[in-house]
Amino acid sequence: MNWLYSSLLLSCLLFIRCHAAVYDRVDLLQEFIQYDFVIIGGGTAGSVLANRLTENATVSVLVLEAGGNNIGAIPTQIPFFCTLSHPQYDWNYTTTPQEGLTGREVAYTRGFILGGSSSVNGMFYTRGSADDYNRLASVTGDSEWSWKHVQKYFSLNERWTFPADHHNTTGQYDPSIHSLDGMNTVSLAGFPQSINKNIIRASSELGGTFQYNLDMNSGNPLGLGWLQATIDGGNRSSAATSYLSPEFRHRPNLHILINTRVTRILQDDSSIGGGPPHLTTVEFTQSPDGARYQVTASKEVLLSAGAIGSPQILLNSGIGNSSYLSSLSIAPIVNLPSVGQNFTDHPRLVNNWPVNGNHTFDDINRNSNLSTHLQQVWSQFGKGPLVDTFVSHLLFARLNDSLLNQFGGDPAAGLHTPHYELGFSNGDISIAPDGHFIGITTRVVSPLSRGTVLLNSTDPFTAPLINPGLLSHEFDLLAMKEAVKTSVKSLTAPVWKEYVVGNPDSAFIDSEIVSKLETAQPDLQLEAYIRKNTGTSAHAVGTAAMTGRDSDFGVVNPDFKVKGVEGLRVIDASIFPFVPSAHTQAPVYVVAERAADEIKSFWENFHIF
Ligand SMILES: Cc1cc2nc3c(=O)[nH]c(=O)nc-3n(C[C@H](O)[C@H](O)[C@H](O)COP(=O)(O)OP(=O)(O)OC[C@H]3O[C@@H](n4cnc5c(N)ncnc54)[C@H](O)[C@@H]3O)c2cc1C
Ligand SMILES: *[C@@H]1O[C@H](CO)[C@@H](O)[C@H](O)[C@H]1NC(C)=O
Ligand SMILES: *[C@@H]1O[C@H](CO)[C@@H](O)[C@H](O)[C@H]1NC(C)=O
Ligand SMILES: *[C@@H]1O[C@H](CO)[C@@H](O)[C@H](O)[C@H]1NC(C)=O
Ligand SMILES: *[C@@H]1O[C@H](CO)[C@@H](O)[C@H](O)[C@H]1NC(C)=O
Ligand SMILES: *[C@@H]1O[C@H](CO)[C@@H](O)[C@H](O)[C@H]1NC(C)=O
Ligand SMILES: *[C@@H]1O[C@H](CO)[C@@H](O)[C@H](O)[C@H]1NC(C)=O
Ligand SMILES: *[C@@H]1O[C@H](CO)[C@@H](O)[C@H](O)[C@H]1NC(C)=O
Ligand SMILES: *[C@@H]1O[C@H](CO)[C@@H](O)[C@H](O)[C@H]1NC(C)=O
Ligand SMILES: *[C@@H]1O[C@H](CO)[C@@H](O)[C@H](O)[C@H]1NC(C)=O
Ligand SMILES: *[C@@H]1O[C@H](CO)[C@@H](O)[C@H](O)[C@H]1NC(C)=O
Repeated sequence: MNWLYSSLLLSCLLFIRCHAAVYDRVDLLQEFIQYDFVIIGGGTAGSVLANRLTENATVSVLVLEAGGNNIGAIPTQIPFFCTLSHPQYDWNYTTTPQEGLTGREVAYTRGFILGGSSSVNGMFYTRGSADDYNRLASVTGDSEWSWKHVQKYFSLNERWTFPADHHNTTGQYDPSIHSLDGMNTVSLAGFPQSINKNIIRASSELGGTFQYNLDMNSGNPLGLGWLQATIDGGNRSSAATSYLSPEFRHRPNLHILINTRVTRILQDDSSIGGGPPHLTTVEFTQSPDGARYQVTASKEVLLSAGAIGSPQILLNSGIGNSSYLSSLSIAPIVNLPSVGQNFTDHPRLVNNWPVNGNHTFDDINRNSNLSTHLQQVWSQFGKGPLVDTFVSHLLFARLNDSLLNQFGGDPAAGLHTPHYELGFSNGDISIAPDGHFIGITTRVVSPLSRGTVLLNSTDPFTAPLINPGLLSHEFDLLAMKEAVKTSVKSLTAPVWKEYVVGNPDSAFIDSEIVSKLETAQPDLQLEAYIRKNTGTSAHAVGTAAMTGRDSDFGVVNPDFKVKGVEGLRVIDASIFPFVPSAHTQAPVYVVAERAADEIKSFWENFHIF
């Protein structure tokens, strides 16, 4: 081995004396400690675990995070700026060429900062359907995943509050299903958009699919309703601003080391040659060519590097398909062919229609004077359009049975689970150079496409091969077509007559596409438009799937422990065997809250013996 190894181990007998804070250099961890838990990734799930495990002052935790501090990262704090890209807080990934997207490679954003993707995401707060959780319970054989049982974890996570403008929210949500004392602040929009009244009017004019849903987080998301978002009076509420807020990050039993990349997890010597492999030693570094350090957890290593990072680390550690790993000259430790497989995401398409009017948000991102002015309004008064994300209303809908029958059944988790989603925006989030628009973002939320996360190189600093397989399954193309058709239909409501310019049907007729098609067949045009313009929602899951103990596939058991391994759990978005029919942060918060409960009770019971 030509790496320089140093050991970070042992002997802070009086743990209390050690400084607690966020460190950016290894040598600032002045006294080397034996940590009970080492958490890999201070992202969405990792922040929850760090907080919950250190509630007990006798438990010591080290968090290793590749990105930097969220405090001072102002662009991540301003909700509307989630519409801009922030490379300094991003892993800057691109996918492999996507066959379903005319061979395009698309950007694949992942948060590279404390709080992980919750520090850069769109802040939509959607729990998913009751069916989604009941399916998880049935796939894992663990009834504790049922909708009924996970309510307590939504409550631990959610803190409902007033929107920034303190408007009267009666009739815009159902107070009886929200928690007032959890960790992440959730609210309705805090700036009135000019289209809001029309959207609600269109819902009553059209009925049916467009029927008003008072609260989409009730377990049945179908219909049209107001978006709820993880926003706190005009500031982003992320895992870092909540679970790692200053009051928690300064706990003496919590150390957070940022700008630190985990390279591998190592098998402990004592477990080589007999019994299940024990993996509690983490190798990490602060630069590609720098020293590699090791730290050993006295209890467990918790892998929370996200649906891309976690499988990359598992594979580099020898946990995966053994013949695949051998072909890359990685010594296999345990044969788990599901690692990095069944990668699932929600394809996403931004559709825009020009409007008669200029009270939209289109000008904000293209006029730097306006943007600067609005930033002042935001910071001085906590008001204005920057206090919100880019969508004000959502619609969740299903395909009809005759379409589902073409695919041999229903890929959704149940009858109250949508196949696709529409998100209504008072402008174009793709920042057109001029014009004013109404935007409808369409997503397939019960997709059948599957992809992979594999290694391009055993160098942990080389990006993995990220293949979400977007629109690789015909069902997903069909569902996206239905979503676009439903968007067009939504704009045929009488209320839009004066506002939406021209025939809504013509928005996706791309002259470049039409000229390539011999005949102008609407369905083929629509398909070509979809394949040319679709990208990702960044709702990656499935690459370390949780399944029942006796299942012939999967990576972790219902207790989050890696199958066939001791000392290592995976706790993040990777563990969903099916993607929930929702934006994935609320489901990830539930997973992490439940995991923290599970780990605490495991070690508390352990001490009895
Ligand atoms: C642009 C974007 C928009 C989104 N919009 C929404 C939305 O509006 N609503 C919603 O519900 N969901 C949204 N999501 C999805 C949601 O944010 C994610 O599903 C969720 O945050 C994932 O949590 P996680 O803990 O699995 O991973 P993450 O939060 O990504 O955490 C992983 C952490 O591990 C760190 N890490 C990775 N590899 C290493 C390594 N080798 N060493 C050390 N650290 C490492 C990362 O830097 C990161 O901090 C969005 C996601 C993105 C990227
Ligand atoms: C704190 O953790 C220790 C060690 O795991 C355990 O023995 C103790 O019961 C815990 N205390 C509480 C209040 O949970
Ligand atoms: C992504 O690129 C930006 C510069 O554009 C850089 O600051 C950042 O560190 C990069 N992210 C990673 C994970 O390398
Ligand atoms: C994989 O590695 C090769 C060689 O370094 C590089 O050319 C290629 O761009 C990488 N592929 C991806 C998808 O990153
Ligand atoms: C809010 O609106 C509802 C009905 O729309 C009304 O009954 C209620 O009094 C209002 N609340 C406040 C505080 O004004
Ligand atoms: C494991 O990988 C090999 C080689 O890449 C592949 O042929 C095989 O199908 C994989 N096994 C499973 C069970 O997926
Ligand atoms: C992928 O998931 C399906 C169930 O949806 C399962 O049957 C299959 O075995 C999984 N494949 C792998 C490689 O884990
Ligand atoms: C906005 O539209 C109105 C008419 O609808 C027009 O008078 C006004 O000049 C427009 N403002 C801008 C800034 O374009
Ligand atoms: C911004 O303001 C400057 C001067 O204050 C002006 O010269 C410039 O034209 C403005 N730009 C836009 C896009 O309005
Ligand atoms: C954001 O939070 C800070 C305190 O952290 C507060 O002073 C400020 O008013 C908040 N801004 C908005 C727009 O709510
Ligand atoms: C199902 O939906 C398709 C596409 O929207 C439509 O053409 C068909 O008539 C519908 N079938 C039934 C039975 O409603």
